[in-house]
Amino acid sequence: MFAARAFLTLACIVAPALGATYGLVDNFVGSSFLSGFQHQAIADPTHGRVNYVDQGTALAQNLTYASGDTFIIRADHTTVLSPSGPGRNSVRLMSNKQYTRHVAVFNIRHMPQGCSTWPAVWEVGDNWPNGGEIDILEGVNDVSPNQATLHTGAGCTMPASRAQTGHITGNDCNVYTTNNAGCGVQAPTPPSYGPAFNNAGGGWYAVERTDTFIKVWFFNREVPGTPSDVANGAGSVNTDNWGEPFAYFPNTSCDFPSHFAPMNIVINLTLCGDWAGAVYGADGCPGDCVSYVNNNPSAFNNAYFDFAWVKVYQ
Ligand SMILES: *[C@@H]1O[C@H](CO)[C@@H](O)[C@H](O)[C@H]1NC(C)=O
Ligand SMILES: *[C@@H]1O[C@H](CO)[C@@H](O)[C@H](O)[C@H]1NC(C)=O
Ligand SMILES: *[C@@H]1O[C@H](CO)[C@@H](O)[C@H](O)[C@H]1NC(C)=O
Repeated sequence: MFAARAFLTLACIVAPALGATYGLVDNFVGSSFLSGFQHQAIADPTHGRVNYVDQGTALAQNLTYASGDTFIIRADHTTVLSPSGPGRNSVRLMSNKQYTRHVAVFNIRHMPQGCSTWPAVWEVGDNWPNGGEIDILEGVNDVSPNQATLHTGAGCTMPASRAQTGHITGNDCNVYTTNNAGCGVQAPTPPSYGPAFNNAGGGWYAVERTDTFIKVWFFNREVPGTPSDVANGAGSVNTDNWGEPFAYFPNTSCDFPSHFAPMNIVINLTLCGDWAGAVYGADGCPGDCVSYVNNNPSAFNNAYFDFAWVKVYQ
């Protein structure tokens, strides 16, 4: 009894001092992505020129490939499409588990590139937008930099001045008043997205979600100084040592418990659609987006994610 009580007392004293330390709860590497995530063969809610396939089809067509510490998901790059048929086969993954307070680190070697591509690594709660959305890595048509964005229901805004290295694109997170733009922050450096990211061998994206803030970091693989717990995929991480994030979303004027529910991690690759299609020409891409996707399978040779691992800490 005494020992137990002494332990509890110690735990009470130690817990607050742990600060921003989190322990590993899920480690997705190679084939464990296949059991930890579902392939969602659903209609693209953003109206892209894709056909999301199930896991069996994705493996059979080698759109999903798992081996050792390599996990690849990609769009089909061999088929000319009929204009009247379904879109280009692609993959959308959703984690089986949901997470509330957590850190997730994504060690990404390569991300999809090419005109019409709209890849995303993000988290979403049930009953969108009421459960909230955190976009960690997202962009279109190879245009750098990356942008991290929150999408919420009504009544969530971000302060104009805050401790982050990125560039604000909007401070109202409410999807209804922003035509679903949400409150975004662009990463400050070009290698955060697309061909530049891939030429640098990719890097690490990390998100921390607490009851009072959300932070997103990007660490370029070529630039020294990535925290060792991030780079090594350590068994525990301490976000206090990671420096200023590029995106910092505090709860100053946003009640987090009512805007952010437990979230699934989603990784998707769509083509054209509401965003990539709308700015396709303006981004310097040739012809019209849907015809380009239909007729040019080899344009999708590099439209793939290669994950070394994804680790979730709580
Ligand atoms: C893909 O990800 C983005 C992330 O912001 C999301 O808005 C979009 O709905 C997703 N599309 C599909 C088809 O899942
Ligand atoms: C499947 O894809 C992987 C990764 O891109 C590649 O290394 C492998 O050769 C492909 N397998 C076949 C049979 O094409
Ligand atoms: C932000 O979090 C703090 C600490 O829990 C809390 O006191 C405050 O009410 C929160 N602010 C909003 C707007 O929810």
